[in-house]
Amino acid sequence: MFITFEGGEGSGKSTAIHRLEQSLKALGKKVIITREPGGTPIGEEIREVILNKANTNMDPWTEALLYAASRRQHVIEKIRPALKEGTIVISDRYLDSSLAYQGGARGLGVDEVLALNQFAIDGLYPDLTIFFDIAPKEGLSRISKNAEREVNRLDLENMSFHEKVRASFLELKKRFPERIHIIDASLSPDEVFEEIRNLIPDLLRK
Ligand code: TYD
Repeated sequence: MFITFEGGEGSGKSTAIHRLEQSLKALGKKVIITREPGGTPIGEEIREVILNKANTNMDPWTEALLYAASRRQHVIEKIRPALKEGTIVISDRYLDSSLAYQGGARGLGVDEVLALNQFAIDGLYPDLTIFFDIAPKEGLSRISKNAEREVNRLDLENMSFHEKVRASFLELKKRFPERIHIIDASLSPDEVFEEIRNLIPDLLRK
């Protein structure tokens, strides 16, 4: 089982991922948590380049290619081998982030960015994608209250960029209706977790 979590800045997905990991481990299930960009040593180095606030002149296609390069390494080195041995893989962001941020918000085109990512994902779509939907304004105000979270290059985009990201995720739901599930991330952490529980009842049983 390969589950990805998606959502705008400050949507609370990290909290939910952590909780899901604890619940699965308590049931004795093998699970790994990983993230994008990153997830492997090479991917983490690529992450540094992409999110570095000093890289203000990065071309949008360079950005899309770097995310895809990080993803390719992630799939080959970590995700696929783990799935092969029966481990549940949960990734904080994956393919749909590229489709929404680079394809939609940056304007490169969802079809174009999906085509580029075929080389990266090598046929590996998630079994389930949970999108944490929240108004960008609310999400960003949550981040600014969280002093531990470092502000990155993408956070510095303006509000209309984040609105476009959200709209793109909602469009992606139409394209992949079976795979993508939307959760109202303005709900309390308990309510959000209850919704996740309802999406994967079998996984959360002994
Ligand atoms: P991160 O600090 O991991 O953000 P968050 O805590 O919000 O998940 O930074 C990742 C940033 O990269 C985030 O702003 C979303 C962006 N991103 C893309 O634009 N395209 C992608 O393919 C991925 C994986 C992330």
